[in-house]
Amino acid sequence: MLSKLEPAPPDAILGLTEAFLKDENSKKINLSVGVYKDENGKTPTLNSVRAAEQQMLESNHAKSYLPISGLPSYGECVIDLLMGSDHDAIAAQRAATVQTPGGTGALRVAGDFIKTRLPSDKIWMSDPTWANHPNIFKAAGLEQATYPYLDAPNNRIDISGMLDGIQQMQPGDVILLHGCCHNPSGIDPTPEQWEQIAQAVGERKLLPLVDFAYQGFADGLEHDAVGLRKICEHVDEVLVASSYSKNFGLYSERVGALSVIANHKDVVDAALSHLKACVRCNYSNPPAHGARIVQTILGDPELRRQWEDELKDMRDRINGMRNLFVDKMKDHAPNYNFDFIREQRGMFSFSGLTKDQVQRLKKENAIYIVGSGRINVAGITPDNVDDLCSAVGNVLN
Ligand SMILES: Cc1ncc(COP(=O)(O)O)c(C=O)c1O
Repeated sequence: MLSKLEPAPPDAILGLTEAFLKDENSKKINLSVGVYKDENGKTPTLNSVRAAEQQMLESNHAKSYLPISGLPSYGECVIDLLMGSDHDAIAAQRAATVQTPGGTGALRVAGDFIKTRLPSDKIWMSDPTWANHPNIFKAAGLEQATYPYLDAPNNRIDISGMLDGIQQMQPGDVILLHGCCHNPSGIDPTPEQWEQIAQAVGERKLLPLVDFAYQGFADGLEHDAVGLRKICEHVDEVLVASSYSKNFGLYSERVGALSVIANHKDVVDAALSHLKACVRCNYSNPPAHGARIVQTILGDPELRRQWEDELKDMRDRINGMRNLFVDKMKDHAPNYNFDFIREQRGMFSFSGLTKDQVQRLKKENAIYIVGSGRINVAGITPDNVDDLCSAVGNVLN
């Protein structure tokens, strides 16, 4: 039976990295996959992470199973980061978390929970959205639809289209929102737009699922949570899929969380029991190491300060590369205006490059970009920016 299978197509984004790794051009540049790179083009292990691992080694933790919902103190750290430690949802115990293998794991558990436990199994996603969202929710069997998000010609959010789209949704439907650093566009709502979105979602009685994979990568840990916190002001029941792959640089450790915030502890307790049942028949219980790192850092004021400094360095480097790229493109393609890239946030930007231009960059310059023209700004370094801008200028002119 297996011999009848045709090979599955490679993953659109990770497949490009496989091709990149095989490319022998010494000047190759990978701007496809969403991984942070430092100015030397390396994905660093944070010093705060190393220090936490050192402490953990000395503590000699057992390797027994974790509870289905993961490390309890990790869950508390997650809720603190999401909501702010003085949020009344914490005192009222109306927020709870299951630790998941990465943000992807959190989204899949959310998908299973929605499909099997909730009245509506329809999920609305922004157009465009992260390429893996439709795969995850298809695998969970959800009905999918999209709402307008991007005003592409003007490189801004199509807020009226989005609000009209929300009016088309039925009470109980799920709306997927990107907490910050919208992937792939890099374009986020302003706090005022978040207020409008939160009100509309509340009035329409939708269930928001906030995908929060980049907290701290846009403007800071607190600032980046503005959208989520406004949603929680206007909506009684909220799901949050958060990831610590990017902001702690813990990609391979698979650290994420699915949190539920509701208006009463009893509602949260019941929802948590169902989330645990979804986890049990999936991966049973989560891996410990990465969550223990996050919990160790967040529980130690000195390590936490160090981590916040390192997170700021990553954020500042990305925003610095945005400015450098835009400045250099003024020389290489004076007829094109890339100023919008300065305003976008997080690792990604829509460059406006067409599929053909993206293909030429790969063929002629070994520059790897996904077909939509989305670039990972964190892949730009002071060493490769000149080659990159000259090649982009070349295909544009
Ligand atoms: C929007 C978005 N959500 C979720 C994830 C999942 O992250 P993780 O690697 O923690 O599974 C990513 C990763 O690229 C992402 O971009």
